[in-house]
Amino acid sequence: MADRPVVVVARPVPAAGLDLLRERFEVRIGLDEVGGAAAIVADPTVPVGPELLDAAGPSLKVVANFAVGYDNVDLDACRERGVLVTNTPDVLTNATAELAVTLMLAAARRLGEAERIVRRGAWSGWAPEQLLGRELAGATVGIVGLGRIGSRVAALLRGFGCRVIHASRSGGDLPLADLVAESDFVTLHAPLSDQTRHLVNADLLARFKPGSILVNTARGGLVDTRALVTALREGPLAAAGLDVYESEPQVPPELVELENVVLAPHIGSATRTARDGMARLAAENVVAILEGGQSLTPVG
Ligand code: GLV
Repeated sequence: MADRPVVVVARPVPAAGLDLLRERFEVRIGLDEVGGAAAIVADPTVPVGPELLDAAGPSLKVVANFAVGYDNVDLDACRERGVLVTNTPDVLTNATAELAVTLMLAAARRLGEAERIVRRGAWSGWAPEQLLGRELAGATVGIVGLGRIGSRVAALLRGFGCRVIHASRSGGDLPLADLVAESDFVTLHAPLSDQTRHLVNADLLARFKPGSILVNTARGGLVDTRALVTALREGPLAAAGLDVYESEPQVPPELVELENVVLAPHIGSATRTARDGMARLAAENVVAILEGGQSLTPVG
């Protein structure tokens, strides 16, 4: 069928979105043939900058990011070319919040270390003082960034009997440096931008409460990895739970070697429910813009 607008999908997204696009448009998978595209469905692994935008050319109307975060997208370059940008908020909020709580529990109960003992056949049986961890009940949890995901984490933690405090751009309960000094757990839910890059640096880490646990399900760039490694080796951190890294998919060997870190491969939104919702919303944004000129969830 000729003359259907071309939608380039960087990497195949779930059918919930792909089918919707295929009903209306010519869908091309992969970034080899972006020339003449009206829309690009990108994701956090796809840098969207002048090069990609110019390769698509003046036909391009929208970059629909298959993610809530959009630090991979050069918003200025899109704006200059009249290209709209959308993301996929809400549909992944719960999945990501649940992973943050999972990592808190896993790091606090030393689950990675415990699993490795079992898997290498080194478990010699129940012991009174073996692998003692800590509990969420009664702990103070500091949430950095009280947006959709941070708020959902706060709601989930109510059931665990935590005291929840937060710091955010718009204020929060207390300044970040005070929050980390008071918190037994600190969980990051801020977007990555020039303002938040290395928000957790050596200076801030030095102020963390001794024995505390850091969880990052937001973006690796929020944390200075070298400073994190030092804080995990020498204190004040007891442990960390990480889903994101500065240069994905590389995970620094210094982190891999540490027993007190739980490492996940960027799976915050990796549930059937969330990924189907993201695919649907990304596709609906493309349809809304190409057929109606308006986006559902614009950014920038
Ligand atoms: C995933 O990393 C997202 O931002 O949705």
